[in-house]
Amino acid sequence: MSERAPYIAPTVGQTVHADQPARSAEPCTIVILGASGDLAHRKLVPALYNLALDGALPSPFGLVGYSRTPYTDDEFRAEMKEAVSEHSRRTPIDAAVWDRFAKSMSYCTGDFGNLEAYQKLKTCLEADEKRTGAGGNRIFYLATPPSVFPIILGNLSASGLLRKGTTAPWSRVVIEKPFGRDLASARSLNEIVHKSCDERQVYRIDHYLGKETVQNILALRFANSIFEPLLSRRHVDHVQITAAEELGVEGRGGYYEEAGVLRDMVQNHMMQLLTLTTMEAPAAFDADAVRDEKVKVLRAIRPIAQNEVGRYTVRGQYRATKLGGKDLPGYRGEPGVSPNSTTPTFVALALSIDNWRWAGVPFYLRTGKRLARRLTEIAIHFESIPHPLFGHDTGTDRPNTLILRIQPDEGIAIRFAAKVPGEAMQLREVTFDFRYGAAFGEQAPEAYERLLLDCILGDATLFTREDEVEASWRLMDPILQGWKAQPRVSPYDCGSWGPAEADELIARDGRTWRKPI
Ligand code: NDP
Ligand code: BG6
Repeated sequence: MSERAPYIAPTVGQTVHADQPARSAEPCTIVILGASGDLAHRKLVPALYNLALDGALPSPFGLVGYSRTPYTDDEFRAEMKEAVSEHSRRTPIDAAVWDRFAKSMSYCTGDFGNLEAYQKLKTCLEADEKRTGAGGNRIFYLATPPSVFPIILGNLSASGLLRKGTTAPWSRVVIEKPFGRDLASARSLNEIVHKSCDERQVYRIDHYLGKETVQNILALRFANSIFEPLLSRRHVDHVQITAAEELGVEGRGGYYEEAGVLRDMVQNHMMQLLTLTTMEAPAAFDADAVRDEKVKVLRAIRPIAQNEVGRYTVRGQYRATKLGGKDLPGYRGEPGVSPNSTTPTFVALALSIDNWRWAGVPFYLRTGKRLARRLTEIAIHFESIPHPLFGHDTGTDRPNTLILRIQPDEGIAIRFAAKVPGEAMQLREVTFDFRYGAAFGEQAPEAYERLLLDCILGDATLFTREDEVEASWRLMDPILQGWKAQPRVSPYDCGSWGPAEADELIARDGRTWRKPI
């Protein structure tokens, strides 16, 4: 499709040098199952367009959309053009790139539950592979409600569309989150997956791993010598991880009622942030070595027992609020949500990691919708100084903090004490501030661009492995069961930082949530 030479991508975290083998993108076709849906419109197709803009898609390349909504090929292309205009990080659309990209697209209508529809998809796909010249390499992207993942996998396999094994022409499957709704269903989904594919064909996506700033957690820790020695129980008092969203459920009420905040954000995104911050250095920077270390941390996290959820977790749900002159609906008033729903849209948790490095260091996690502002950060709070040399009232009693800002204003900050100019030994907290934008001067690719490209290239480092998903569910299960036994949520105002109980959770240990600056 692109007229440029095939894209040569560095392996994760590496710069390609002339003497190094580079990864090249082989021709392939991506089939988006769920192409009429929100994810395809807002993320997937805009990400593929941006890859086309960078000349990063293989040549030739094909994109086949599949869902029940009937479109002709041209209607699908027109609809995707609108989606890209609205959601691409780079606009306006480049007409020449779009024309070439649009030629790679086609659309097939069908129902996931109907095996015959997959025969039709097979015919469409084979015709398309001939038209584009993309050959037989295929990526099936399951951008569908999680409840239909098992049916789709079974039918892709039964229809012969998905071939088990990694010999050419290859097939890969990308599975969206949440992968299962508890440990049992995740295991059963893994069994279904393995009937149709080898583990090396499976890409369980967690888009947080595609964020530049999330990958930078590893760079900060393992490409520098000054931070890593400090990151342990010897120097760290506690860690706070916040993923706050200003938006509500945004028309996804039906899905959210089933999921709730723990399945939607904690089991996947928050656990990724926690494991990358706390894992040991992997022996090598490859898919298995990195994932091995993450799994070790997950296994060291002390599960919150069912009867302890009242002590270590707080659930909240946003309520109707008048904010800035606007009436914002409460969660119970959102389309698709029961008026008596007890589904939490906020959670705060206190976790412990029972291993040599982190024993005794509390990890406070909080995430929620309709909070004061959009902010994802990891704040590492260090121990206080052992003796206040300059006296108690000089401003030195605030411990140092290392803040990894995931979004927005991506960067890293260190808060420390400095002398205020003047005769008195008066101190004030100041900030060393590194900002991605200012340092690199270029816009980072979107997470989905990175992950789609990695999947095309066959690099699974930034995708989750079977045992990692299961280890995370093992921690969520008792919390979900404990909550089920006591189904209540604390209401909180839109535009706040969650219910007062979340402040009490951390105050009980003599600490407070960091006030983001
Ligand atoms: P939507 O409900 O918007 O889209 C679902 C898609 O599946 C539609 O294209 C729908 O098309 C299709 N579909 C549903 N049932 C069938 C069926 N029986 N046969 C054929 N097609 C069917 O969901 P989202 O796009 O929001 O989410 C998709 C996945 O991505 C979910 O797993 C979600 O958790 C995940 N995700 C979504 C994010 C987002 O921001 N939206 C972010 C991160 C993950 P049609 O009705 O035309 O058949
Ligand atoms: C998705 C969740 O996985 O992540 C959404 O389903 C949430 O509910 C989103 O809004 C947050 O992603 P980001 O990239 O905006 O932080």
